[in-house]
Amino acid sequence: MSFSIERYKEESRKLDTAGIDWETVTASPLSKGDLFCLHYMMDIENHVPLYLSHLLVTRACMDPILTAFLACWNYEELWHGENIGKFLNLYGIEFDTQDRIANVRANLGVQNSVSILSTMVGSWLLKDFSAVYLTIGAINELSTLTGYGALIRKSGHPVLKDLLGRIIKDERRHYAFYFNSAKEWLADNRKAQRVDRWMLDRFWVPVGQGVKTQEQVDALALYLFDDEQGEEELLGIDEKIGKLPGLSGIKLMSKALYAARERRRQNPEWAWRLIDNEEWAVAPPKRSPVGELTTRRTQPGGAAVGAFEGG
Ligand SMILES: [Fe+2]
Ligand SMILES: [Fe+2]
Repeated sequence: MSFSIERYKEESRKLDTAGIDWETVTASPLSKGDLFCLHYMMDIENHVPLYLSHLLVTRACMDPILTAFLACWNYEELWHGENIGKFLNLYGIEFDTQDRIANVRANLGVQNSVSILSTMVGSWLLKDFSAVYLTIGAINELSTLTGYGALIRKSGHPVLKDLLGRIIKDERRHYAFYFNSAKEWLADNRKAQRVDRWMLDRFWVPVGQGVKTQEQVDALALYLFDDEQGEEELLGIDEKIGKLPGLSGIKLMSKALYAARERRRQNPEWAWRLIDNEEWAVAPPKRSPVGELTTRRTQPGGAAVGAFEGG
């Protein structure tokens, strides 16, 4: 698996959706579990710019190769969220994408700012922060594309298969970048390897956790991976990440699945109740109206205007 940043910069583009049979989205039914996963995945794809805001304040961004990657990566991820949203709208689920994104962000509250500050300080104190961040990037991209593969399999929906299949190709390139960059950083660097492993063992959480609750994360994991094939796929992710220098035998994704199973064993309703009750709407924030937080205001004609225009 190789990766060339020069080639990536040349070839990076918006997801090509030409020829997707959008007209037949409603021709095949989706289960409640499929819909739950699609909402989760869309929200996490749409959260990428905020994730990026954490990275841009770190020591890792002294590296121009990394910032070139992030510039293209962020744009590609934008179109993943947009197209999953389009798919859901065409399926007949009504929501305003901009409102939904703003609500997700507003609900993070002060926790988001604390997290940015601690990532920034941590990165400047810890010389090998990049190793940890790059490894997490590799796990996130690999688990995302594995999740899309599992949803293709579970849903059996032909249009979704086509759409997610195209997104998976992007995620593979992202994974290749993170994996190769992490490998480069960790090779012959015992100290970085120890820091990386120590941090992952203690602080790593599955992609989306923090934006989503533990129970939501578990619902996704149990819907997609709680069968023999799913478990094997998660073990496969651990095995691939274990090939990075210093991470041999590490268990992350499989451990998360076993922990989700344990929580459900203690409470049989755990996780599945979210799917059964169709809890995939995002409630508006309790404290401040979104308009106040986003500094967007609606004109009498109905069009929203940004406080900052131009660029
Ligand atoms: Fe994505
Ligand atoms: Fe990605």
